[in-house]
Amino acid sequence: MASRRGDAPIGLISAIPQEISHFGEAFQEADVAEIGGLAFRSGALGGRAAVLVEAGIGKVNAAIVSTVLCREFGARVLLFSGVAGGLDPALGIGDVVVARTLIQHDYGAMVGERLRTYQPGAVPLPGVDDSHGYHLDAALEQKLRSALDGVSLPGLSAAATGGAPRQPAIHFGTVVTGDAFVNCEATRLRLFEQFSAQAVEMEGAAVAQVAERFAVPCVVVRALSDLAGAESHMDFGSFVHDAAAGAAQLMRRIAAAL
Ligand code: ADE
Repeated sequence: MASRRGDAPIGLISAIPQEISHFGEAFQEADVAEIGGLAFRSGALGGRAAVLVEAGIGKVNAAIVSTVLCREFGARVLLFSGVAGGLDPALGIGDVVVARTLIQHDYGAMVGERLRTYQPGAVPLPGVDDSHGYHLDAALEQKLRSALDGVSLPGLSAAATGGAPRQPAIHFGTVVTGDAFVNCEATRLRLFEQFSAQAVEMEGAAVAQVAERFAVPCVVVRALSDLAGAESHMDFGSFVHDAAAGAAQLMRRIAAAL
């Protein structure tokens, strides 16, 4: 196992090529290691030692690469940059959510035809403390806020929004994670009501679970590619590239500040 030294790398994860591709120019690659069929690319990102990996989609892929980054590369922090579906009607496509809280919305017990969520690994039975989620430490949140202070994202044209042009905003909020792409208005509403969450994606809280296990911090930045409703499969295709670029722009700033 690699030790976690002062010069230990940042572990930077995305799920799909459209998300990781935006780090290409800022990343100087020095070496590539293939582990479990995945390419772990070591080098420098904004002057910081970093290992980049495209994990593939879903919680298990995220947990595999997070574990390898901690165990084989001694990563000192795990970062995830990518896109998400919006849950909060106050947010629009292109807006970015920096996760203050990450929750696995699909771990728990089916009770009365509803999933009652528990902290991953907890026995999902009544009587167990049902407070759950992974929370950004206050000092790290302050560091992220400072790193993002004054940063503005590229504006969205009227053609892109289908309405008025808008300036994407940066929010700190709750992101929920599960192994399903949400393409359903009823589910979007349920997740919003149940968790007061801003966004849904398929990896972040799994990265946070591994980060907690290895006692390293975790930062998840997600830009909205869609609004998780009946049109989300269409919007995802139209906006994944630009949304992922926004998340990566902010993540490059964050990586330089950590
Ligand atoms: N990632 C991007 N959009 C998503 C959605 N609608 N559901 C889950 N993950 C997503």
